Amino acid sequence: MEFSIKSGGPERIRSGCIIIGVFEPRKLSAAGASLDRASRGHLTAALKRGDMEGKAGTTLMLHQVPRVSAARVLLVGLGREREFDDGKYRSAVTKAIAALKQTGVTDAVLCLSAGVKQRDVAWRAAQAAIAASDAFYRFDRMKSKREQARGVRHLTLLVGERNELKAGQTGLKQGAAIAHGMSLAKDLGNLPGNVCTPAYLADAARTLAKQYKLGVQVLERKDMEKLGMGSLLSVARGSDEPPKLIVLKYEGGPRGLKPYALVGKGVTFDTGGISLKPAPEMDEMKFDMCGAASVLGTLRAVAELKLPINVIGIVPATENMPGGSATKPGDIVTSMSGLTVEILNTDAEGRLILCDALTYAERFEPQAVVDIATLTGACVIALGHVASGLFANDDGLAQELLAAGQTTHDRAWHLPLWDDYQEQLKSNFADFANIGGRPAGSVTAACFLARFTKKFKWAHLDIAGVAWKSGAAKGATGRPVPLLTQYLIDQAAKS
Ligand code: BES
Ligand code: MN
Ligand code: ZN
Repeated sequence: MEFSIKSGGPERIRSGCIIIGVFEPRKLSAAGASLDRASRGHLTAALKRGDMEGKAGTTLMLHQVPRVSAARVLLVGLGREREFDDGKYRSAVTKAIAALKQTGVTDAVLCLSAGVKQRDVAWRAAQAAIAASDAFYRFDRMKSKREQARGVRHLTLLVGERNELKAGQTGLKQGAAIAHGMSLAKDLGNLPGNVCTPAYLADAARTLAKQYKLGVQVLERKDMEKLGMGSLLSVARGSDEPPKLIVLKYEGGPRGLKPYALVGKGVTFDTGGISLKPAPEMDEMKFDMCGAASVLGTLRAVAELKLPINVIGIVPATENMPGGSATKPGDIVTSMSGLTVEILNTDAEGRLILCDALTYAERFEPQAVVDIATLTGACVIALGHVASGLFANDDGLAQELLAAGQTTHDRAWHLPLWDDYQEQLKSNFADFANIGGRPAGSVTAACFLARFTKKFKWAHLDIAGVAWKSGAAKGATGRPVPLLTQYLIDQAAKS
C-alpha cells in the first residue's frame, strides 16, 4: 500500500472514495461537516434517514454526492465522541479499509480531522498507515490460484491545515516503515514450517541485507560448536534441518556508538521434541519463529527510516524435533557462558537457544539488549492476546519499552523478575534446570534468561499471546514490530 498526504478542502479532492468519521449520535466530524456544506446537506439528509447512527464499527457508503469530487463517500461510525480513544481510532481505520476491500475502490482519501484529542497529527498519520496496511494485508503465496487483489492500493491522508503537513509527513513515513516491517514479519510467520526453515530465515536475512546495505553473517553448526553453544545445539539435535545463527548489522550511527541488540527466537517449528506436544493446534507452532521475524521486520523499518543509531539483530534459528539423536529429558548441556543446564523438558527450548544468543550478544558491547520470543504458554494465560509480557533487569529500559508500546498501541505489561522465583529452577545435577514448574511459568522462563544477561541492560518480551491469531483469522500479526521500531525511533531522537 502506498501513502501520501495533502491538505485542503475534502470536497475538491479527486479519488475513488473519501472516508469521513461520524460520531454517535449522527454527528459529522469537521471534514464531514465541510462535505455536507458543499453538498448542501446531502450527508445530514442521509443521517436523518436513519441509515447511520455513528456506532463504532458501522459503515455507510454513499455514491455520487453532489458537488463532491470523490466518486464515493464512506461514512465510518466512531462511537461516542467522549469515549473516542487510540484503540477506537485504529479500529475505525481498519473498518474503513476492510469495507473498501469489497468494492472496486483502489485509491481513497482518509480525513484525519476526527482524531483522538490527546494525539497529534503525526501520531494520527502513523497509526492510520499502520492500521490501513494491516487491514489490506493478505497472504496467498501458498494458494495455487490467487484471487485478484482488491482494495485500496493508494491511501491519501487529508489534514485540515497546511501547517500540519510537515508533522503529518513525518508520522506517515514512520507509520509506513513500521507497516512494511510488520508485513515482512507477517509473511515470514505465515509461511509453513516446511518452507520457512532456519536456512530460509538466513536467506531472508541475506536478502534484507542486500536491499538495505546491512551487514550479515550466518554462523553454521560447526561455528556454533567452536563457540561452545552447547545449549542452542542441543535443541537442533533432533532435526534434519541445520541450525543457523543469523547476525544482521545496521550501522546508521557513528562508528563508536554502542549498538542496540535485538535477539529473536527463531524456532521454525516446535514439536516439543521428546517432550512431544499434543496434536491439537500443533500447526500453530510454525509461528514459534515470530520473535525472529520481528527482529527482521524491525531492522527493515529502522533501515528504511535511516535512523542515526546502530542496531544488531541476532536470530538463533532451529527446529525442535524428536528423533534418534534428539536431546532427552535429564540430559545436561553446557551453554556458551559455561553454565550447565539440566533439560527436564525439551519443550522449554526457546530459553535454551536464546541463552547462547544472549551470551553471543556480549561481544557487541550493546547499550541495551531486547530479546523477543514466543516463549511460554503461561504468558497467554496471564495476559491473553492483548499485551506482551515484559521483563527487564533495568527499570529505565522497561519504562522506555512500555512507553513505545503505548504510543503504537502495541502494548506490553511489566511482570516481576524477582530473585524469589529463581529457586524454582534448582537442579540436583546441573547449575540449574530449564523449567521451574507450573507456577509463574513466564516469570521462571525470564529468570532463566536473566542468568545470561548480567553484563548488559536487558529486557525480554514474551510475545506468545500476541504474535499470531488463532481461529478463523489465523495468521501472524507482525507484533511487536511497532513497539520495537518506536522504541528505536525514540532512542534515535534522544541521541
Ligand atoms: N513455543 C512454546 C510456547 C508457546 C506455547 C507459545 C503455546 C504459544 C502458544 C514454548 O517453546 C513452550 O513449549 N513452552 C512450554 C514451556 C514449559 C515446558 C515449561 C510451555 O509454555 O508449555
Ligand atoms: Mn516448546
Ligand atoms: Zn517454542
